[in-house]
Amino acid sequence: ADDGYRLWLKYDLIKDVAKREEYARSFQFIAVSNQSPILMNAAQELQVGLQGLLGKSVPIITDLGKKTGGVYLNEHQGFSNHIKYGDEGYMMSKSGNIFILANKGVGVLYGTFALLRHIQTGQLLTKLPYNSIPKIRYRLLNHWDNTNGTIERGYAGGTLWKWYELPATVDPRYHDYARANASIGINGTVVNNVNASARFLTDEYIQKVAALANVFRDYGIRVYLSVYFPAPKTIGGLKTADPLDPDVRKWWTDKTKEIYKAIPDFGGFLVKANSEGEPGPQDYGRTHADGANMLAEALAPYDGIVMWRAFVYKADPKADRFKAAHEEFTPLDGKFDKKVIVQVKNGPIDFQPREPFSPLFGNMPKTPLSMEFQITQEYTGFATHWVYEAPIFKECLESDTYINGKGSTVASVIDGSLHKYTMTAIAGVANTGSDRNWTGNPMAQANWYAYGRLAWDHTLSSEAIANEWVKMTLTSEPKAVKTITDLMLKSREIYVDYNTPIGLSRPWSGVHFAPEPWQEKSARPDWTAIYYHRADSIGLGFDRTATGSDALAQYRPEVQKQWNNPETCPLPYLLWFHHVPWTKKLSSGRTLWNELCTRFYTGADSVKWMQQQWAQVKPAIDPEIFADVTGRLATQHTEAIWWRDSWILYLQTYSKQPIPAPFQKPD
Ligand code: GCU
Repeated sequence: ADDGYRLWLKYDLIKDVAKREEYARSFQFIAVSNQSPILMNAAQELQVGLQGLLGKSVPIITDLGKKTGGVYLNEHQGFSNHIKYGDEGYMMSKSGNIFILANKGVGVLYGTFALLRHIQTGQLLTKLPYNSIPKIRYRLLNHWDNTNGTIERGYAGGTLWKWYELPATVDPRYHDYARANASIGINGTVVNNVNASARFLTDEYIQKVAALANVFRDYGIRVYLSVYFPAPKTIGGLKTADPLDPDVRKWWTDKTKEIYKAIPDFGGFLVKANSEGEPGPQDYGRTHADGANMLAEALAPYDGIVMWRAFVYKADPKADRFKAAHEEFTPLDGKFDKKVIVQVKNGPIDFQPREPFSPLFGNMPKTPLSMEFQITQEYTGFATHWVYEAPIFKECLESDTYINGKGSTVASVIDGSLHKYTMTAIAGVANTGSDRNWTGNPMAQANWYAYGRLAWDHTLSSEAIANEWVKMTLTSEPKAVKTITDLMLKSREIYVDYNTPIGLSRPWSGVHFAPEPWQEKSARPDWTAIYYHRADSIGLGFDRTATGSDALAQYRPEVQKQWNNPETCPLPYLLWFHHVPWTKKLSSGRTLWNELCTRFYTGADSVKWMQQQWAQVKPAIDPEIFADVTGRLATQHTEAIWWRDSWILYLQTYSKQPIPAPFQKPD
């Protein structure tokens, strides 16, 4: 049985013999243009893949000569048109041989995985040529992993990194981690939590991280570290961490030198500062730019970057957290060093199941902005609920900021085309852990996969990505592929319906999952549920128009126009921007109260439908994976009912209305 360890790199034997034989004719050998570690990794991956898919052992040769009928992995700096392809793009063509051509070995590696994907998804080789160039330069995973082996907001076991064993013992799993990431084009990994321990900057940990880097390097993956801003005090013995203090600057310069000595291709630093209690430059009366530029200065001699997070907000019950990042960061536009990228979460609050795009996108034309998505399901049901996230990512990337007129999408900000940034980046908070199947829920593997594919090419559709993932990972039986893809595409809306419909957000207690919409007290006034939903006897929702917090003013007029009229604001965003009376008739023809009840009930009922659909694919799915997902769906159904009932019973104390008749039935 399949325990999910092999992810989408399963390479199971193609059942159709004719098809297998047809492929086999084109794979009589694998020739390499050189024997660098990265090219050999590509050749060996292809060899392993073909052994599995075709049941055939294909030799690796180092001299192509005049041979035909095989694959030629060709690293060739300066081929015609090479400038366009850069360091990572590749060309794939077929004439006599299948040629994978790239300027650098890593491009050949990406092309090799693309070729395997072609075969895994049953495409004909006559579909070649096929060329590809990534649209974003830095494509990273962010691991929120701690020194003690836990993962902040991780739901798939403990950390993958065995800190106690490193650097002497190097778990073979790191190699599989690198293969999986390279197969989807991820080229960087921040190995530790943004709530960072200073220990990661000690020599002890630098050596451990260097051992990881040694494995990842030959898959084109660079390591990065999250840094604890006051580290010069905590581990450096200095009296201050003031970024303008010469001793502090020297400390960072020396530290950076030490890191590069151990890790020559180190990627750089990720920083969470003056955010949720983490210290930062503001503690010394300095700005985010002062802090970031100090680190950029330390990185100046090297090919490394600073990713400075814009996730900031104050513990002020009167302020609107929605506005905080824009308020703090837009005045700093143009003040950052050229090695700095400001990393912005997709929405203005915090990875909610649905959020409007962050108003920072487009509003810092002189500063490269990077996208931070959350792959781990902190707010979308942990590893239990089945939520396919590509539609969440796409919804944000395709949103139009109207910054330079129509068509100024968030994607065009991130990929640098709108403001001509040369440094472009995207980050995904990882959902991996020590569970055998990496992500806890087997269906959550699709979110890691989809993130990587979109980081490479944000124009791919959610459906196309789901389709290829299912075929590579679960089954190629056409009816089952269709059923599962359909479930994936609907899963996010179903979750939103029973969890936070019509623009509700953040109804959780401290663990960020147990429903607690009635929560009024917390460590901070802005960490209560009522801060976000604003339920009262009149209605529900956060007024962010001019009569309220006026957060809408942070968007361009065209965007404001979509959202600032409660009569025309699309229902998915309604309660994000308006306080709506319970009895108000919405565009759906129902009152707010009836619409809410309809969403909560149909959402929870839809999980039953998901269970029924999943039951139908049983014959096409490995029994172990089938049983695992079946169990999780049962829990999801129970919890969907908890969400529905918690919300409805609580809101009913304000609305004073009955549950509509059609829903007054046993589950
Ligand atoms: C969320 C999350 C925290 C995390 C923070 C961040 O608030 O709950 O665990 O540290 O985001 O992104 O910094």
